[in-house]
Amino acid sequence: MEQYAIKGGTRLEGEVTIAGAKNAALGILAAAVMTDDEVVIENVPYVSDTRTLLKAIEGIGATVRYIDRHTVSICGKGIAHDDTLCVDDEYIRKIRASYYLIGALLGKYKYANVALPGGCDIGARPIDLHIKGFETLGANVEIIAGGKIVARAEELVGSHIYLDTVSVGATINIMLAAALADGKTTIENAAKEPHIVDVANFLNSMGANIKGAGTDVIRVRGVEKLHGAFYSIIPDQIEAGTFMAMAVATRGNILIKNVIPKHLEAISSKLIEMGAKVLEYDDEVRVMADGKLKATQIKTLPYPGFPTDMQAQMAAALALADGTSIVTESIFENRFRYVYELIRMGANIKVEGNSAIIKGVKRYTGAHLEASDLRAGAALVIAALAADGVSFIDDIKYIKRGYEDFDDKVRNLGGIMQLVTSDEEVKKFKEDYK
Ligand code: EPZ
Repeated sequence: MEQYAIKGGTRLEGEVTIAGAKNAALGILAAAVMTDDEVVIENVPYVSDTRTLLKAIEGIGATVRYIDRHTVSICGKGIAHDDTLCVDDEYIRKIRASYYLIGALLGKYKYANVALPGGCDIGARPIDLHIKGFETLGANVEIIAGGKIVARAEELVGSHIYLDTVSVGATINIMLAAALADGKTTIENAAKEPHIVDVANFLNSMGANIKGAGTDVIRVRGVEKLHGAFYSIIPDQIEAGTFMAMAVATRGNILIKNVIPKHLEAISSKLIEMGAKVLEYDDEVRVMADGKLKATQIKTLPYPGFPTDMQAQMAAALALADGTSIVTESIFENRFRYVYELIRMGANIKVEGNSAIIKGVKRYTGAHLEASDLRAGAALVIAALAADGVSFIDDIKYIKRGYEDFDDKVRNLGGIMQLVTSDEEVKKFKEDYK
């Protein structure tokens, strides 16, 4: 059993350094297998999602060398590119983003065999747009018995692809396959998230020819082959945003280091509407809140709109604001499960369709909570740190998928948060902080 034990009520103050962006790293690690040369990637966040994807990459025959906790060398030369090539479903079941190996392997070997990702707690999350992109490039994609996707092509020919829905995953997966296709591919209505730009920059550092990443039209001119590279991943916009919301919910004062302030603009502006102060420096932001918080409205949108991955964390802070806030989730169909845990802590929230109506309350009280997904778990940590009393959070495996050394970082900010793994430790924590 692994839980976070938290004693709330402390204003978080001090400095925290943000790790590399998980959602950039997953696309970049998959792309690294597209060359037979060695690729060295720095600032890889030490989280279970990246560790799992690296195991999947080793599992298909690539050589992976951990140079240090955040730097890895990958060489795709040893991948068995014949019918035995198959990404085992144990990895896909752990992280959906293993599906980036379809685009990477299809691009490089014109063949990929990867288990089909399931849905998850925040929605159905189909991959029809990924498949549409691969087929438009000339691949034959079929789902075979055992829930595997097999994609193969005589050759991949650059094409014009319009994404009916803005999709981060489909944009990245199609970019991977198109990088080694013959001719020019245009991806219209592409996602513009910072991690899309990071994956495109990484591919270009390997010799790809990709222009327009970060806009809604990405142009890929296929090249013969890709070569080795040395690359450093951008900081994680959502980890940074999580600590910004934590500063506000606990009325603290936190200097968040190793960030790109431009990536945080939507988050900063909402926190300022709530009455927080946000000071921007070159690669740091300071977030302070000391008085009453004000209600505001949030609607999640593709970048540069307000990020859906920050929706739960902001709701946890808004539940303590004066007045009524409305949070609307426009990306996923089921991303309010955390609300019922916040209600158990005293929050006053009603979910109506794809909106949460949040009536601010004076305080949370600690409770025994359950994390349903990665960002919901982060929201519960924020609420528990702001609550009166002690909270225990179960299922923290979700949180550890995307937050490196989360409890250490919170403790360094003065928060009382421990990883507990036994009933004795739970008992002791209760004794120490009753
Ligand atoms: C990525 O998921 C992120 N995951 C998610 O972060 C993030 O919430 C999401 O983008 C939106 O920003 C990674 O990058 C590993 P989408 P992804 O394709 O690519 C629909 C986290 O917390 N859609 O942009 O799966 C889909 O159902 C995670 O780190 C289709 O209909 O998201 C959704 O409604 C959670 N068909 C919308 O598009 C498709 O083929 C956006 O999804 C693909 C997507």
